[in-house]
Amino acid sequence: MKPDEHRDALIAAARAARAMAHAPYSRFAVGAAVLDEQGRMHAGCNIENAAYPQGWCAEASALSAMVMAGGTRAMAVAVCAVAPQPVTPCGGCRQKLREFAADDCPVWVADLEGHRATFTLGGLLPHSFGPEHLNP
Ligand code: THU
Repeated sequence: MKPDEHRDALIAAARAARAMAHAPYSRFAVGAAVLDEQGRMHAGCNIENAAYPQGWCAEASALSAMVMAGGTRAMAVAVCAVAPQPVTPCGGCRQKLREFAADDCPVWVADLEGHRATFTLGGLLPHSFGPEHLNP
């Protein structure tokens, strides 16, 4: 499994997912895609709610799709959104990703104009708490 080989496809999946976003309140559409341990891609968008706190992020949708498809590990993550700075996963989503991903998991972020940036989950969420703390 070489996640880098899936980079363009994963970013394209995140971009396509962004187009499905339900974000009538913030108007901030986000798409995300995760690559699972079988090399399959799972995408999702943010889904907002009239009761604002009940909305959820694109990363959570993508992870839900992965789990429902039987995926157990996130080998790479892509996020697509449009903003002046690269849009990285929010704090809560970093922790959600941590459940399924290692510190070296690449997090690729992209906008619609071809700007890209690369992070790792460990860089975004250093010294994190994870499943191994509960299952040593
Ligand atoms: N959002 C995401 O879906 N992912 C992120 O990484 C950042 C924020 C969503 C949540 C909300 O629907 C909108 O973007 C504005 O915060």
